[in-house]
Amino acid sequence: MKIQRYLISFLITLTFLFSSCTRQKSGESGTSETRYTEQHRPQFHFSPDSMWMNDPNGMVYYQGEYHLFYQHNPNSNVWGPMHWGHAISTDLVHWEHLPIALYPDSLGTIFSGSAVMDWNNSSGLGNGDEPPMVAIFTHHNHELENQESLQFQYQSIAYSLDKGRNWTKYPGNPVLDNPGIRDFRDPKVIWMEEADKWIMVLAAHDRVLFYSSPDLISWTMESEFGENIGAHGGVWECPDLFPLEAEEEQKWVLLVSINPGGPNGGSATQYFVGEFDGKNFHNENPGEEPLWLDYGKDNYAGVTWSDIPKQDGRRIFMGWMSNWQYANQVPTVRWRNAMTLPRELKLGKDDFGYMLRSVPVVETEKLRVGQIKLESGPVQGRNNVGPANKEADPLYEIDLLFEFDPEVAEEIEFGFVLESTQHEKVVAGYNTRSQELFIGRKQNSGNTDFSEHFPGVHSAPNQISELGEIRFHAFVDLSSIELFVDEGAVVLTELVFPESGFESIRLYGVHESVKLKEGVIYSLESTW
Ligand code: FRU
Repeated sequence: MKIQRYLISFLITLTFLFSSCTRQKSGESGTSETRYTEQHRPQFHFSPDSMWMNDPNGMVYYQGEYHLFYQHNPNSNVWGPMHWGHAISTDLVHWEHLPIALYPDSLGTIFSGSAVMDWNNSSGLGNGDEPPMVAIFTHHNHELENQESLQFQYQSIAYSLDKGRNWTKYPGNPVLDNPGIRDFRDPKVIWMEEADKWIMVLAAHDRVLFYSSPDLISWTMESEFGENIGAHGGVWECPDLFPLEAEEEQKWVLLVSINPGGPNGGSATQYFVGEFDGKNFHNENPGEEPLWLDYGKDNYAGVTWSDIPKQDGRRIFMGWMSNWQYANQVPTVRWRNAMTLPRELKLGKDDFGYMLRSVPVVETEKLRVGQIKLESGPVQGRNNVGPANKEADPLYEIDLLFEFDPEVAEEIEFGFVLESTQHEKVVAGYNTRSQELFIGRKQNSGNTDFSEHFPGVHSAPNQISELGEIRFHAFVDLSSIELFVDEGAVVLTELVFPESGFESIRLYGVHESVKLKEGVIYSLESTW
């Protein structure tokens, strides 16, 4: 099996070298017409045409286009000098690659940041016809870093007057200098209507800082948040701040990625819910335990789109589907890493306080090309239930409503198993004794030997429901599983590298009381 894998990856490298030569010759950078057929290439998740990608950046909507910029090293499939890669979509599921938007310059390489539409031309960077699209990002100066200075990260801006196609760096960069903090990066900027000013939230080592500005150019520090609150197992990165309504009451949500220190090891994203008055953020969730946006190992540095039209009103999130523990080693060659599905964030409230729910955006329904309805009834003794279309790629959306008797004292466990013809296997389930949801991507789930941090069973606490019902909603691509439980109250996003996808789906239930109340399996189509 190993020899086979090495042979395959050798062949892929050869193909890659050949195809990158032909690409360079013709000046192509990959288009939506490209059909990506390399081993493990996600078929309905965004991945770069070639080379390295990490965080999503500068997500902004303008004139019918969702822009996605991303941390990109165009010269290698491992992390290196950062550029902003660029892609656009009109529906959040089909993406078109565009040329690199921001290149390193004399101030440094281009780390993570955000983009906004400066509708009123507060920056003065517009030309009177088009509102400028303004990107606010971190310049990372490797020379200063090597000289052991603390001040090698500072914030700069660039603008575009042609729908994000061409960018000009502001000549007065940086707009926010480093005050002497080693980790000082990842500005996320929003227009705060109530305060009539721009607000920037910025990661500063083990906390976030808030700044404000009338014009995106001059910035004043307002406050800091995070000391002794939330998870502190690693450095804080890529924050986001936005309002959301919970039962007709508006609250402010603060997302903060942290690396390491995630609930299942390595990178993850925590969040806080409370009030923001234009100056200070007050956390209102009472618990001591951090709140995690996603318990899986592979959702990091995610933030939300700016300037989604009011009539749409959604808060749309996308994360980087990897983990710094092994992102540089995952077994892909021509490109490395992908994004999560775009998700809508919603705010809920229960006995424990406010909580975020993440659900895949409704546009993902466009991917459905076939479906099978599953018979309701006992789960024990069932054989394969899928796939819906044996001829199609093994790409699925799985929607299962399980029922069980919550009064039973014994251990009950149930869920589904994905299995390949090579007997590679992944299990997603719930256990009533541990009261945990989990995804098991053990050594037999496919290629796992590139990192000791990769294989394992990764879990999320989930109190047993008095109703005895749990809904599993999962998306299975060629190298990932995203599990949304009970309308996104708990999410587990996990990479997985089977030889060629999972050809069969099986339900399992370790107790006779486990029943399937409703179930549908959709076959999905590739977006490339
Ligand atoms: C998060 C991160 C950011 C930084 C970028 C560099 O994954 O470390 O803090 O801006 O990646 O690529």
